[in-house]
Amino acid sequence: MDQLNGGRPSEFIPDVAWLEDYELGFAPLDDDHKNMVKLVNQTAGALNAGDMHQAFTLITRFIEASRYHFEHEERILRESQYPDIDHHVRYHEMLLATADDVAHQCETVKQFDFVRESFLVLVGCLLDDVIKGDAEFASHLVEAGLVDP
Ligand SMILES: [Fe+2]
Ligand SMILES: [Fe+2]
Repeated sequence: MDQLNGGRPSEFIPDVAWLEDYELGFAPLDDDHKNMVKLVNQTAGALNAGDMHQAFTLITRFIEASRYHFEHEERILRESQYPDIDHHVRYHEMLLATADDVAHQCETVKQFDFVRESFLVLVGCLLDDVIKGDAEFASHLVEAGLVDP
């Protein structure tokens, strides 16, 4: 696959910072989230460098890590009888669909701006899932005895 043609990206994608507020206090899920943020930032780095081949490789790694994480998280939520699981699973599906779009665009679209737009939607999904979505079940993990209060 070629590197990006047609000039440098018009605007750089900033890194997603990992904040302490994002921590659920449950290491198996927190570690997955940190890894997902790391892979998203590495993908942003490749996009900023205009290297679509590397961006595709990294976003594919991100998708694999996300699938693994979502299966794991959904299993925990199911086993501990989290009441709002269906709603939360839809967040996960939305993120995976958006990440697939980004991967597809890295492969086929050579214009940075199109990929950047989809990528920023993906970053929004990741923050919505990790911050808003997962924060909603933080108290459930305490009630289920998985996290110390
Ligand atoms: Fe999660
Ligand atoms: Fe989640």
